Amino acid sequence: MAYQEGGDTPERIGAPTSRGYRRAIGRASVTPRPRSMSDSVGAPTGTSTPSMSSEPTIGMSYPATDTSGLGSVATPPSRTGDPAAPRHAAPDSATDTATTAVGEASTGAAPEQEGGFPDVSRETNDDDDLPLALEARRAVQILNPTGSVTMPRPPRRRVICVANQKGGVGKTTTVVNIAVALALHGNRVVVVDLDPQGNASTGLGVDHHAGTPSVYECLVEGASLKEVAKPVEGIPNLVCVPATIDLAGAEIELVSVVAREQRLKRAIDGYPEEVDYVFIDCPPSLGLLTVNALVAAEEVLIPIQCEYYALEGLGQLLRNIELVKAHLNPVIRVSTILLTMYDRRTKLADQVEQEVRGHFRDIVLDTVIPRSVRVSEAPGYGQSVMTYDPGSRGATSYFGAAQEIARRGAQLGGQ
Ligand SMILES: Nc1ncnc2c1ncn2[C@@H]1O[C@H](COP(=O)(O)OP(=O)(O)O)[C@@H](O)[C@H]1O
Ligand SMILES: [Mg+2]
Repeated sequence: MAYQEGGDTPERIGAPTSRGYRRAIGRASVTPRPRSMSDSVGAPTGTSTPSMSSEPTIGMSYPATDTSGLGSVATPPSRTGDPAAPRHAAPDSATDTATTAVGEASTGAAPEQEGGFPDVSRETNDDDDLPLALEARRAVQILNPTGSVTMPRPPRRRVICVANQKGGVGKTTTVVNIAVALALHGNRVVVVDLDPQGNASTGLGVDHHAGTPSVYECLVEGASLKEVAKPVEGIPNLVCVPATIDLAGAEIELVSVVAREQRLKRAIDGYPEEVDYVFIDCPPSLGLLTVNALVAAEEVLIPIQCEYYALEGLGQLLRNIELVKAHLNPVIRVSTILLTMYDRRTKLADQVEQEVRGHFRDIVLDTVIPRSVRVSEAPGYGQSVMTYDPGSRGATSYFGAAQEIARRGAQLGGQ
């Protein structure tokens, strides 16, 4: 997938080369731009989201009796004036972001655009981009060409399983971007792609056509992780263990294998290199592959999409983690929750966030990942958003999330 150079127009928003031009005219322009493919995928419009018109509470998405296993809903903290209020934007981002957020929270009214028309669009538009000078500074910090910006390394290897059996919540995007962010800032990182679709491999630009040595060989044939791990181009401290379509059959093939739940753990434990982080990108299911990831890991990171039904099924995931803890891996724990695809213009996103923070408290990262076209475009170029558009709000947010993860990791005790 490549965009042609030349003939840049505001519509040609996918082309990295068009960014300056788009920015120069974007804010003043009132010409509606066509929705890009990534806008329409998974982004319901305000009118089609059931909660938007009738304003039900989030609790409506759960059964009346608490079969979700999440317990009762704690009263959400008020955003306004709350010192622990989460950061939805870079701390030094334009004040209009903060004003809009506070305005929304206090008046409940949709933010208005110039000219008095309410902005009810769910699209991510140019307002989500950072001003140019700030963006350039961010880009340098994120790409870190001199290596002067570092994130603290953990005292021992952290194996983090990124799981949520719901598809499309941002598992792969989170793995790719956090892994790249940590690797660009002095950490040695391994990404294990455990989804037969191989999206994490694609996102890191690592070949994963059928027949490529992959995680399948580790699980089913007992190959070592080192044999199949591939360096990620342009990111010196990052390697990826790709997944090919062969993995689709692994769940069935593993049934007859000895210690079938421990196969990935064995492979990861046997990885000889010094590594700070291993991220495992799980498939959207709770089958044997995810169980292998939960057995191999010490921590679980759950990305939660700030959308309707976001928490449905989470109870089942948590119960599975408890089962694995009881029978297979006593050290596993949910260490991190990351809110993804946050759209600050919707009250729904805010409600989901407050509910998640009410339930999960400290393990929810302060940083929230906004819904951003840049984030969804990056895999098309075999890149993370960190390298595809390092000054963008998506990159900034993932950088912030990685920093939080690194800071928390630095406080872990050694072995
Ligand atoms: N913050 C975001 N803003 C916009 N699109 C996103 C964002 N995060 C993920 N996406 C897109 O949403 C889709 C699903 O994300 P993905 O990370 O593949 O989810 P999962 O791995 O949970 O199935 C992908 O097309 C991805 O590019
Ligand atoms: Mg995925």
